[in-house]
Amino acid sequence: MNLYKYVSDEINKKLGFEAKLDVPKNRDFGDFATNAAMVGAKIAGKNPRELANEYLPLLQQLDFVKEVSIAGPGFINIKIKDDFILDNATAPKPMTAKEPLVIDMDYGAYNVAKSLHIGHLRTSIVGDTFNHIAKFIGHKTFSWNHIGDWGKPMGLVIAWIERLHPELPYFQDNFNPETPVDYEIDVAELNNYYPSASSFAKENPEFQARAQEIKAKFQAGHPGYFALYEKFLAISLQAMNNTVKRLNILPFDYDLGERNAAKYLKDVEEILNEKHMIYENEGAQIINVKRDTDTAPMPPYMWRDSRGADTYDSTDLAAVYCRKKIDNPDKIIYFTDLRQSLHFEQLFRAADMSGIYPYDKFEHIGYGTINGKDGKPFKTRDGNAAGLDDILDIANDAVIARVAESGKKLDDETIKSIALAAVKFNDLLHDVKSDYVFDPSSITSFEGKTGPYILYTAVRLNSVMKRANADITKPESFELSAEERNLLIEIMDFEHTILSAYDNRATDMIANYAYDLCQLINNFYHNCPILRDDVTPEIKAGRLYIAKLAFDTLSTAIDLMGLKIPNEM
Ligand code: ARG
Repeated sequence: MNLYKYVSDEINKKLGFEAKLDVPKNRDFGDFATNAAMVGAKIAGKNPRELANEYLPLLQQLDFVKEVSIAGPGFINIKIKDDFILDNATAPKPMTAKEPLVIDMDYGAYNVAKSLHIGHLRTSIVGDTFNHIAKFIGHKTFSWNHIGDWGKPMGLVIAWIERLHPELPYFQDNFNPETPVDYEIDVAELNNYYPSASSFAKENPEFQARAQEIKAKFQAGHPGYFALYEKFLAISLQAMNNTVKRLNILPFDYDLGERNAAKYLKDVEEILNEKHMIYENEGAQIINVKRDTDTAPMPPYMWRDSRGADTYDSTDLAAVYCRKKIDNPDKIIYFTDLRQSLHFEQLFRAADMSGIYPYDKFEHIGYGTINGKDGKPFKTRDGNAAGLDDILDIANDAVIARVAESGKKLDDETIKSIALAAVKFNDLLHDVKSDYVFDPSSITSFEGKTGPYILYTAVRLNSVMKRANADITKPESFELSAEERNLLIEIMDFEHTILSAYDNRATDMIANYAYDLCQLINNFYHNCPILRDDVTPEIKAGRLYIAKLAFDTLSTAIDLMGLKIPNEM
């Protein structure tokens, strides 16, 4: 049961107007507090405290109310009856949304022939969590891995391969795609090509020009370049798949990015031309997305660059057109680094002006950077910018060190789950927009607000239930201790928390909830023995029931955050 909603609705029904229900940080005086008397006093022109006194007997009549009391200028504290709690506490189930939406979520957005950077970690973690949550609360979502597979890097990588292996038939203009070519590369080698080519191009204008020429020909459909691209696309897709598995995120509904979007450029261009939206500017084609009300600079949106090539901008607009055609979404949400905010503002305006998709149905969730202790983007020990795999490897090493120190023996799979939980939970715990410092040692601690602590609590609770090996059913009646009561109330907050986390786009709400729940589970565990010999069968059964609800709730939260519970810890 969503206790918050139930209590709030019942109070509003009873009083005949909408009041606001609060969940106090400290619940010693009440499980909830309402501002009903303040609202009522405004309507009736009365004194809130006096009115609160009039409301008390009315609220006392509600089936869930144990006690009501007045606090401060007229807040009313409400304590819930224990029986009501025990009768109505349930483990969370997927919800139905009042207005279910179709939502396209653009995250991941990995790049072909480039290793994943640290930013890809956050888009994956945050995007995947919102995808889980949106599904859980009853929306229909489609995740789009908007692969970077059409721009500058393609030209550079193909030019680099041409430099290394000019004899390959791919570079002939009359290349026949049916020709078998004996050429293999592995992913590590491939991922090296882009940085090598890119620094080489900086010093060699000729090579730079060649890469640009290749890119343009590639986009225009040069058969050899395309065949070569298909080769490394396959390698990159395989690597992306491995990343999805390693990160334990949901598989993408679409691995379709810039190249797929490019197929729609013609259609979009027609629309833009009809609306006279494309302007020539120093050889490039641009869209003016400035508004009279703008106070900050608003550069034009680049439809085609001065070499006539497709751009990140144009393929992004075409991608919107494509999604509209395929999913017809009620909403499109992008998860990228905050530094892309301007790009998305431009995109949303261009889409709106062209009538392709309305401005107010777009959303960009921008996240901050992952930094080292020096406050700059996190680097590996050798001083290079850390990639996605580096972060996970570093966390893995930190877990191995901790486990060795504690004398525990855990298998590799378990260590990986713990390390992943450490990284993901820590990420979700931070406000999405803010930067944070990545400290492998603190995030892998088994105590405190950490992923390992969350998993450890789940593993321990699970093992109690396994050891009990009993049928777990709801007790007829059961006198609740303070620890049991607090835990059940928290369990009944689950749905409200998930809805708030979604509405506020706040992953920290779910992470903090999981932590609070674990604290209460551990208080319960320490103060309410279950399997000890001196515990009566009735108490044992009641506590097992509560343990089971707690476990199911915690494991649902763990699932939504994309963590995995290991068998032992
Ligand atoms: N591939 C880009 C990157 O790695 C992010 C793309 C984000 N999505 C989009 N539709 N522009 O930074």
